[in-house]
Amino acid sequence: MLASPSISPLEPQDVQQALGLQNEEGDTFWLSWPNTPNIFGIKLSGEGNALYGFCIAQHVFDEVEILSIVVKKALREKGYGHKLLHNIFDIAHSKGATNVFLEVRPTNIPAISFYKKHGFKHIATRRHYYKNGDDALIFKHILQQAST
Ligand SMILES: CC(C)(COP(=O)(O)OP(=O)(O)OC[C@H]1O[C@@H](n2cnc3c(N)ncnc32)[C@H](O)[C@@H]1OP(=O)(O)O)[C@@H](O)C(=O)NCCC(=O)NCCS
Repeated sequence: MLASPSISPLEPQDVQQALGLQNEEGDTFWLSWPNTPNIFGIKLSGEGNALYGFCIAQHVFDEVEILSIVVKKALREKGYGHKLLHNIFDIAHSKGATNVFLEVRPTNIPAISFYKKHGFKHIATRRHYYKNGDDALIFKHILQQAST
């Protein structure tokens, strides 16, 4: 039987694999994460340490902002995003954060559905925020307690 994918901290040596996943989206990667204070990352690894997904977030006072969350294209809709997100909630809770924020494009229907399913609410819109002129929707999740 195959071992189930496991969560661990994202390491600098994971950047190339993470870039590969991010490039599937053609989006910007937070290359500076290992050297930026308060930024932390987790990864979901499968057989042979293959990177299934990752999440990078920033902790400031009572807030955690999700900067990037990506699951490998071929492995989506299997609950791996859920696993990553709930680990981020637990880490955020352990750091004393009470809210989790993120930005998402209005065109990113899978991500919006994913966030709403996990208790995020749309609280604001930043007009023409992205380089291509897309707005950014700001979503907020209030942390209640350690999630499992
Ligand atoms: C958003 C993302 C991380 C979700 O990861 P995932 O592993 O597919 O998510 P899960 O399997 O845990 O959750 C599935 C839920 O996500 C949403 N979802 C995922 N893919 C979807 C799709 N193609 N269409 C609609 N909803 C979708 C649904 O709410 C779904 O729940 P349901 O099965 O009850 O309908 C993944 O789609 C991804 O990596 N997207 C590209 C990167 C990205 O856009 N990141 C967010 C930037 S803000």
